[in-house]
Amino acid sequence: MAGLASTNIIGVIGAGTMGIGVAQIASTYGHQVKLFDQNAEAVECSLVQMKKGLDKLVSRERISAEDRRAIVDRISSCSQLEELGDCSLIVEAIVENLEAKQSLFKQLESLCNNNTILATNTSSISITAIGAALNHPERLVGMHFFNPAPIMKLVEIISGKMTSASIAKTTADTALAWGKKVVQAKSTPGFIVNRVARPFYAESLRLLEEGTTSAANLDAIIRESASFRMGPFELMDLIGLDVNYSVTKTVYDSYYQDQRFSPSILQKELVDGGLLGRKSGQGFYQYGDNTPQPQADSFTSSFVPASIEAKGDLGVSTGLLKLASSLGIGVNESTGEGVIQCGEAVLALTDGRTASKRAKEEGTPNIILFDLMFDYEANPRIAIAPALQASEVALDHAIGFFQALGKTVTVLQDSPGLCVMRTICMLANEGADAVYQGVCDIAAVDKAMQFGLNYPRGPLLWADQIGLAHICQVLENLQKTYGRDRYRTSILLQQLNDAELGLYDK
Ligand code: NAI
Repeated sequence: MAGLASTNIIGVIGAGTMGIGVAQIASTYGHQVKLFDQNAEAVECSLVQMKKGLDKLVSRERISAEDRRAIVDRISSCSQLEELGDCSLIVEAIVENLEAKQSLFKQLESLCNNNTILATNTSSISITAIGAALNHPERLVGMHFFNPAPIMKLVEIISGKMTSASIAKTTADTALAWGKKVVQAKSTPGFIVNRVARPFYAESLRLLEEGTTSAANLDAIIRESASFRMGPFELMDLIGLDVNYSVTKTVYDSYYQDQRFSPSILQKELVDGGLLGRKSGQGFYQYGDNTPQPQADSFTSSFVPASIEAKGDLGVSTGLLKLASSLGIGVNESTGEGVIQCGEAVLALTDGRTASKRAKEEGTPNIILFDLMFDYEANPRIAIAPALQASEVALDHAIGFFQALGKTVTVLQDSPGLCVMRTICMLANEGADAVYQGVCDIAAVDKAMQFGLNYPRGPLLWADQIGLAHICQVLENLQKTYGRDRYRTSILLQQLNDAELGLYDK
């Protein structure tokens, strides 16, 4: 079945941040749009803002003046809800409150014809719960846009227990026809994006709480080593710490206080103190005209390695050897446990144990762990952490080696799983659990995270590239080290690892 034809009229209720964006999208794709808000002023204000946005697009030659006029003309504001009776699809974007949404949809049921699709843009309320108030809950579907709706590519189409498959499909096809990337999921707390993204913030918050390094260093690692557009702390400051904390708390409570989602005490402390990020002038960072932002550290060494010894298979970090060779550093290969010997330093990719534990277990006091990178050859920063037993010379040699590869080096306190590795493992673990629980399929997780939050790579594809054996090992070691259920490995990852398969092999 195709999506709705452009001759179908679209209704949008709630002309706030999201509603006006949805109205603009539908109109851009040729639909007549009827916009209703209980507050008539809100409609006028939003239309003025939308016109300003369209003017910018015209001045940048992204749309013509004629397109702009047509987009504006196709949107009409309604003063009565009854005027939406002839709409084929109504997207609700009112206040995030179950009773308010139920009451609105009940009214809509009585004034629309039987074929009207009723869609809600809720980001956190169960579609099944909203539908429970309706005579025909099968025609209620979640249509979750991201902010700003005209720009963000993703739409999550969410089915409640009673949503009809054909309604979900028509809604998905309509979003596709509106140029969106679409994923389908079952109604569960956080849907896909708001659930799978929790570890992105949680793991860095934990590292900060544990004094592993500064927020500026963690942000720099996530940006420059893992290729995310923003680090977790600068992003939380932008979103608003209260908003981010509230999403985490909602997901945590909805999953009956599953430790996997436990909120951060540090974040709550900041929220309680009114330190909400950019909007309050201070969050993890301070904002103001003349406030300089703290810079990430860069550790340097005068040691220049002539050659290194690569012992065994370096797996996902093999790019380091290629890079070393290309820069004229001799690479001698031998058998071993997948480490690089460089001067006094024994360099190894983190496997979730602390460096100190690994030094003891492997009898290599001078072990220096390095973190996961998006691309070991291309990314400019690397995080490393020495065992407490390691000598200063060994750390100096490790810094010298990575510096010779052109990397900026951040030295962390010894910590399990370092920063990027534990973040990616936990993102993949959460995504895998969503798949295991039948919320969505593997490709949907990756698509949702790439297009909903601009992740540089889907976490499940990334997990396959790292190797599920390594992912499972990191998670097991994190669980052992912390002694907490938070790091339990998803059954899907365990099964695939036991079968020596990747997530995308089936
Ligand atoms: P908003 O506060 O900017 O706008 C809500 C609008 O709804 C207001 O203009 C208000 O007057 C109107 N309204 C409230 N109750 C109404 C009713 N009973 N009938 C008609 N109009 C009513 O809110 P925003 O941010 O646009 O959010 C709307 C919905 O979209 C919420 O469910 C929210 O969770 C969801 N959402 C928000 C995102 C965001 O980043 N802001 C992202 C994705 C979803």
